[in-house]
Amino acid sequence: MIHFYHVTKKFDLYSTALQDVTFHVEKGEFVFLTGASGAGKSTLLKLILRQIRPTEGQIVVNGRNLNAMKRNHLPFFRREIGMVFQDFKLIERMTVFENLSFILTVLNVAPREHKKKAYQVLRAVNLHHKLNAYPPQLSGGEQQRVAIARALINDPLVLIADEPTGNLDPDLAQEIMQIFGDAHLRGSTVLLATHDRDLIQVSGRRTLVLDQGRLIEEKPAVVERPARTDGVFGLS
Ligand SMILES: Nc1ncnc2c1ncn2[C@@H]1O[C@H](COP(=O)(O)OP(=O)(O)OP(=O)(O)O)[C@@H](O)[C@H]1O
Ligand SMILES: [Mg+2]
Repeated sequence: MIHFYHVTKKFDLYSTALQDVTFHVEKGEFVFLTGASGAGKSTLLKLILRQIRPTEGQIVVNGRNLNAMKRNHLPFFRREIGMVFQDFKLIERMTVFENLSFILTVLNVAPREHKKKAYQVLRAVNLHHKLNAYPPQLSGGEQQRVAIARALINDPLVLIADEPTGNLDPDLAQEIMQIFGDAHLRGSTVLLATHDRDLIQVSGRRTLVLDQGRLIEEKPAVVERPARTDGVFGLS
């Protein structure tokens, strides 16, 4: 679903944000991306959306070679991807509902369905009472949850999130992880960047680790084996 082949990204002559990065995320996977500040996490996610282009290497997302994709195909390509940005990117002069409705219009969802879809997804992030608030009237964590709601609203094929729990307290962070887990169960392929090693550890999911632009480690998902019980399927 997401394939990087020897991808290097230099923003200028002196700094290399990503260096020869190769990895694959298969359809239906849930993968974490971690590494210190400046390691290249946001750069990697921006490359997937083709907000920026690689200096070297190939990227294929959902069967499309991003180097070869024409500009006029970008909107169609991006419709299949839900993205939670590190800085939220909510439209400040629009209410929460209008922010969501705007995206649904872009996604070609009929206007009569907007209220229902917006309410459903806001319930999932526990913000249904803030439908008519403007982003500046919300706390950082609330804005973050609206940004998550917006990314989830149409069950995207690929869900990409950049530090989606960065401003949240641990309880709320767990709830948000649950929401991503649910989206994954509904069929989205998820790639989630976070600093939070604890969050990754408890999840037991496959993890890509960046260090100064290099992919240094791949931890496989921990497969939980059910406790052994006596008798077949524990029936005795
Ligand atoms: N537009 C840009 N122009 C120049 N350098 C950039 C640009 N964007 C990122 N960089 C550099 O690329 C490197 C990787 O940045 P990136 O934002 O991908 O890190 P990150 O892992 O997301 O960090 P954080 O955890 O702080 O969000 C950094 O050294 C950063 O300064
Ligand atoms: Mg970042």
